[in-house]
Amino acid sequence: MGDSGRAASRTAVLVCQGRAAAHGRAGTDRFSDPVAEQLLHDAERGPVDEVRADSAPKGWQERTRYESVRACAEVVVPRTVAIDEALRTRATGQLVILGAGLDTRAWRLPELAGTDVWEVDHPASQEDKRARVARAAAARLQAPDDHHPSPRRPEATGLPVLARSVRFTPVDLAVDDLGTALAAHGHNASAPTTWLWEGVVPYLTREQVRATLSALAARTAPGSALVVNYQAPSARAAAGRLLTRLLGSSITSGEPWRSLWRPQQMAALLMEHDLRVVSDDDLLSLARALTGPADRRASLRSGRVAVAERG
Ligand SMILES: C[S@@+](CC[C@H](N)C(=O)[O-])C[C@H]1O[C@@H](n2cnc3c(N)ncnc32)[C@H](O)[C@@H]1O
Repeated sequence: MGDSGRAASRTAVLVCQGRAAAHGRAGTDRFSDPVAEQLLHDAERGPVDEVRADSAPKGWQERTRYESVRACAEVVVPRTVAIDEALRTRATGQLVILGAGLDTRAWRLPELAGTDVWEVDHPASQEDKRARVARAAAARLQAPDDHHPSPRRPEATGLPVLARSVRFTPVDLAVDDLGTALAAHGHNASAPTTWLWEGVVPYLTREQVRATLSALAARTAPGSALVVNYQAPSARAAAGRLLTRLLGSSITSGEPWRSLWRPQQMAALLMEHDLRVVSDDDLLSLARALTGPADRRASLRSGRVAVAERG
């Protein structure tokens, strides 16, 4: 538990497991995340190894964990590729990642070499992330490998950072003032910023989403962009989450979805904040464009990645 009485996010671990499981077997060379596995604890690597080996375990609890990681691996490939590519073309020098969880981009994308990265997250989740980064760094010192491209900057927190800097910024988006926290951590509101908001919007109420957007819009200079991943309403996705819960997974029940947005609603909301949507794609179309018309979960259709710009 962190100091706010809430536990570190378990969905952040699940997404990290999905990226670790997909690394090297995503069916496209545009996806790669060699860092994700390093952030996982040994017990969390079990289902990852099983998914990578296509070896479903027998017990129902183990099988539920396996299926969660497998489903997540399918979701994170198109989502990560779309977001990575949006960020590569928008290297503004400032990247703020809202609800960063176990995001690995600062340790993974060489294109961020000239960019300062603010990792904003709930204090409990951020504390957990920092401990994982430090642990991974210690493990790397003991057993150096060449998984990672040209590490340049061994920071105090450990794992080699490819970005210019990583600034951990603890914020509970439900109660804290995002703008004040970013200002205190050196974010420059008058220079362009690329904002990333991946896998977080569903966990916030509509009011919290609006409040977060107002706070970020106030620090968004011309030339800035927002990359937002959100969830559109879908009976199929809701049924899938219910089934996972009935099968005994407490991951999704501990972090319920609180807001779903239709693309038109999201575009209107962003426009209210002077952010014009330039693309908005569903994950199913992105996945098909990446690896062809393979058999995929239709529920991918409700996950979306939108990019909005301020001119
Ligand atoms: C599913 S994880 C996504 C993590 C990461 N963005 C990714 O895609 O790998 C959800 C993240 O949202 C964060 N989050 C949820 N509610 C939050 C809040 N009220 N304030 C700050 N962060 C929050 C959690 O701590 C967690 O890191």
